[in-house]
Parts: sequence; C-alpha cells; structure tokens
Amino acid sequence: MDREKITLTGAQETMLATLYGKALDSRSPHSILRDHEADKAVQRIDYDFRKTGVKGTTAAGVALRARQLDDWTAEFLAGHSEATVLHLACGLDTRAHRLHPPSSVRWLDVDYPEVLELRERLLPAPTGDYRMIGASVTGDAWLDAVPDDRPTVAVFEGLSMYLRKEDGKRLIQRITARFPSGQLLFDCYGTLGIRLQKLVPAVRNAGASLHWGIDDPREIEGWHDGLECLDALRSVDMPGLDELPVSGRVGMWVLARIPGFRDIGRILRYRF
Ligand SMILES: C[S@@+](CC[C@H](N)C(=O)[O-])C[C@H]1O[C@@H](n2cnc3c(N)ncnc32)[C@H](O)[C@@H]1O
Repeated sequence: MDREKITLTGAQETMLATLYGKALDSRSPHSILRDHEADKAVQRIDYDFRKTGVKGTTAAGVALRARQLDDWTAEFLAGHSEATVLHLACGLDTRAHRLHPPSSVRWLDVDYPEVLELRERLLPAPTGDYRMIGASVTGDAWLDAVPDDRPTVAVFEGLSMYLRKEDGKRLIQRITARFPSGQLLFDCYGTLGIRLQKLVPAVRNAGASLHWGIDDPREIEGWHDGLECLDALRSVDMPGLDELPVSGRVGMWVLARIPGFRDIGRILRYRF
C-alpha cells in the first residue's frame, strides 16, 4: 500500500507530533494510553517523524495529557448519557475510538477540511453517532449548525496555544452561550511557554506559531456568567507522572521547583 505523503505545514503539521507520541507510547510494554490505532496510522504515513523531536519522555507526556482529557470526557459522559461532544482540533487523535461512546452521544470531530481528508484516509470511522466537521474553529457557521439541545462537552487538546487570545475568548463565549450546560476541557501553555516556543521542536520544525498563553485560569471565569474552573492541573504535577521514564520524572521534579517554569503548561476543566 502507498503511504500518505504529508503536505500540511504549520499548526496542521504539528498533529503528527502528538500522533507520533501516542504511537510511540503504544509500543511500550508500560503504555499509558494503549492507542494502537495511532501506531497503525503512523505506519501508513510517509513522513520523517524525527522532525517532531518526540521521544520516550515527550511521548509519555503526550499520552498522560491525552489520558487526563479522556478521563474527564468519560466522567462527563457517565453523568450525561445524552450529550454532545465537540472534539475541536481533533487532528489525527483517536479519542472517539478510545472512549467508545454509546450511540446516545453525538460526537463531532472538528478540524480544518484538509486535515479531515487525511484523517478519513488514515483512520477507521468510529461507530455510533459520529460526524466530522471541516472548518476553522474560529469561524461562526459550523457551531451554528450544531444542535443546541444537549449538555455539551468541548474537549480541545493542543489547540488553545495556536489561537490568538481574542479568538480563544470568542470560541469559549460562543460555546458557553449556545449550549444549556456543559464543560470545557483543554490544555494550555503559560506565557513563559509561549515565549519559549522555539525550544519545542515540533512547533519550530513545522514553522508553527503559538500565541495565547494563560497564566491565570480564573480569568476565563469572567468570560461567561456561571463559568467555573473546576480543575487547573499543572503539567509538572499531573496525575500519572510516576509512569514517566526516570529522566522525565527528574525533569518534572526540577521544573516544579522553579518559579515560572512550574506554570509552563496546564490542563483545565471548567463547567458552565
Ligand atoms: C498539536 S495538533 C493537536 C491535534 C490533536 N488534538 C492531538 O492532540 O493529537 C494541533 C491541531 O490544531 C488544529 N488547529 C489549529 N488551529 C485550528 C483552527 N483554527 N481550527 C481548527 N483546527 C485548528 C490543527 O489543524 C491540528 O490538527
């Protein structure tokens, strides 16, 4: 079978780094996420994955972040059997495959059309009430077409930092205004992380740019009446760090003790 050549660049290309992280993790006997579908997709892609700079510790870090967002999404669905999931900037992530939501859950994977074309060729379609929407999340039309009849969880991993703050704010305000209730689950960089972006090979080598850093998760609460931050986990002390290789554990331990670096990234959960 001919492997898929990659012509995407910038933010779109960075999805190969997170995919590769999950694939590498799945090959480990101590895999955190066991995302074997990610590994199958990697085998079908003609790309020099060394460009991502992702190796053992980074791969495990990507898997831990994804697992945390999976766990929160699953928790939301356990409490809301009829719900809508907006999986924004899905890239080649297989969250719907990993979580197997029941057919009472409406699942929407959203990313740019050219990303979804590749996704269709590389990944099997999940079962259930599943649809893909090809659009920029900053546009209006796609969200207006999503039925507003159910509690809604918006999960977006590896997206906020690529947005400008005003676009991120508008996205959050449009979601929280449209649906009756729900949650927002996403990761973010702090402003120091944004300043140090050239040190991240996946970002630098794809020619991508990061814009929005969040230092105070509570600021977002003021963007919609009743929006409340439930969790703000620092990347340096997220659950499961003991599953990292020793070098990663030591690195995290050191970062957690340096003011500024401690807040370099977070995983956030809000309800509205
Ligand atoms: C680092 S990747 C993360 C992909 C996936 N969430 C994961 O964790 O593997 C960044 C993703 O954000 C998407 N993205 C960036 N800006 C976007 C926008 N304005 N609208 C839709 N998708 C966007 C890119 O196309 C890419 O798939």
